[in-house]
Amino acid sequence: MHNKVNKERRVIAGMFNNIASSYDFINHTLSFGIDKIWRYRLVKKIAINNPQKALDIACGTGDVSIALMKKGIDVTGLDIAQEMLEIAKRKTEKKYNKYLKKTSKGLKIEPTKYILASADSIPFPSNSFDLVTIGFGIRNFENREKALLEIRRVLKQKGELAILEFATPRNKVWKSLYNFYFLTILPFIGKVISKDKDAYNYLPTSVNTFPQYSEFKKELEKSGFSDVKFYSLTGGVAVLYIAKNSIKME
Ligand SMILES: C[S@@+](CC[C@H](N)C(=O)[O-])C[C@H]1O[C@@H](n2cnc3c(N)ncnc32)[C@H](O)[C@@H]1O
Repeated sequence: MHNKVNKERRVIAGMFNNIASSYDFINHTLSFGIDKIWRYRLVKKIAINNPQKALDIACGTGDVSIALMKKGIDVTGLDIAQEMLEIAKRKTEKKYNKYLKKTSKGLKIEPTKYILASADSIPFPSNSFDLVTIGFGIRNFENREKALLEIRRVLKQKGELAILEFATPRNKVWKSLYNFYFLTILPFIGKVISKDKDAYNYLPTSVNTFPQYSEFKKELEKSGFSDVKFYSLTGGVAVLYIAKNSIKME
């Protein structure tokens, strides 16, 4: 079992390492820039008051981490794909330096730190973070149950979990348009630009096998999260889940 998990992780990390250099361009182009609005919504919807420390799991090239950093939160980004992290580090440095130039009075933000690790084995002590975020990463986890337990362990009591994930629209007309785009056009363009023949076929498959809306809400509740809310974005193409960690874990 352990070997199988490690093998799956190596395959997933390899796939993201392979597409890292084209990831941002493909993301922004194929979503017509809407992905930026989804991440903005995530940051806006954070309900917890004045979070100090956040862990951005599956941070990839760092877009969610950077958005949180700009809010003055002390962020750590975590991912299993080193090449994605290298891009995140370069982008963070640029944004941080830009911020430094803009501020004449003392700097209030910390540059995001990045670590290579997996969501199901988080190298931090219990009760370390006020906020955990996951942007379009959780459907890739090979052991989601263990990852959710780990997240509850590192979250402080009353800490918040915010997850962005793709879903399938429920409106019939919108769903058929979406399916045509998501199952035909997107894998084709993704393959041509990234030169990875599997990564953009894997995307619709992984979305279709991931629990959606109230089904995922139930899974979060089963894992011990409370006050689970979800918000449908762009007609249900993406969903934002917000949950609380009400029980303290040692
Ligand atoms: C689609 S990208 C999302 C990146 C970024 N959060 C964003 O919003 O663009 C998914 C990321 O999940 C990472 N990932 C997959 N399995 C993981 C795991 N078990 N632990 C941590 N990161 C993982 C991948 O390496 C990849 O960078």
